[in-house]
Amino acid sequence: MRDNDTFFLPGFYIPREKLKVIEDFLSSGFHVMLAGNPGCGKTEFGQVWAASRGIPVHKVNCGAIRSPRDWFGRHEFREGTGTVFVPTKFLDMLERPCLIIFDEINRTTPDNHNPILNILDGNREVYVEELRRHVRVHDGTLFLATRNTGRQHTGTFHLDHALEDRFQEIRLELPPKEVIVQLIMANYSILGEHAESIARLTVKLNDLYDEEMLSKAMGMRPAFAAAALVQRGNSLDVALRYAFVNRYSGEGGPESEQALVMQTIQGLVG
Ligand SMILES: Nc1ncnc2c1ncn2[C@@H]1O[C@H](COP(=O)(O)OP(=O)(O)OP(=O)(O)O)[C@@H](O)[C@H]1O
Ligand SMILES: [Mg+2]
Repeated sequence: MRDNDTFFLPGFYIPREKLKVIEDFLSSGFHVMLAGNPGCGKTEFGQVWAASRGIPVHKVNCGAIRSPRDWFGRHEFREGTGTVFVPTKFLDMLERPCLIIFDEINRTTPDNHNPILNILDGNREVYVEELRRHVRVHDGTLFLATRNTGRQHTGTFHLDHALEDRFQEIRLELPPKEVIVQLIMANYSILGEHAESIARLTVKLNDLYDEEMLSKAMGMRPAFAAAALVQRGNSLDVALRYAFVNRYSGEGGPESEQALVMQTIQGLVG
């Protein structure tokens, strides 16, 4: 997508002020925590930003960290050599200028965060037993974390205050309707009026979440899913029903969330 007044990063929407604050925090040595509902670009942001600035990036999937030692490496048995320590890419990247993304940092238990506390404070250093040395974090290594917030999450853990305190939190929101239209049109060849209806529904359902009429917030994924169905020749009505309705509970029949979403779709496309 071309750069214009709306897009300050290629293909990714973020208000100019928010982008500048994130960049200014990162370049002043502060770590940034991106918070917000699913599908609002938390994971994508770091990758797009780092690519646009020519900075190497490494994403750690924190949900896969099952023990405190998983950050640094694992022991593997090699025929002929015996047991060797295989360092993680994360450990490697700590010693060079790059952006490290702790993706979904609240999906690993708080005790697993202990090894990274020293990395993230003024020490910027950690002793790695297996290497028998301190690993010193490069001055040019930047840290960004993401976490889901909102009413609908299971499988997330409360963040320890000490960890939370090491980050400056920034909330990412669903883009405005006109921007959603542009994002859809940039990724799918469908009619403008169809993109418009998908975007209107997305924003409307997110408003209903804010008003506590629905239990799930809206991100960009259902909008892209609906656009993909339309691009493949499905009618707008079919696309909207399949991409949006089943995300909500049918419990309560005519009073259910599904029924409310169906009514909203009918109100939009007739
Ligand atoms: N602001 C945005 N600009 C452009 N694309 C976006 C934006 N927000 C979301 N998307 C698109 O929506 C999809 C989901 O984004 P992403 O995976 O970053 O969401 P997330 O916030 O990390 O969600 P989750 O909390 O579920 O991990 C991606 O395809 C991404 O490109
Ligand atoms: Mg994500």
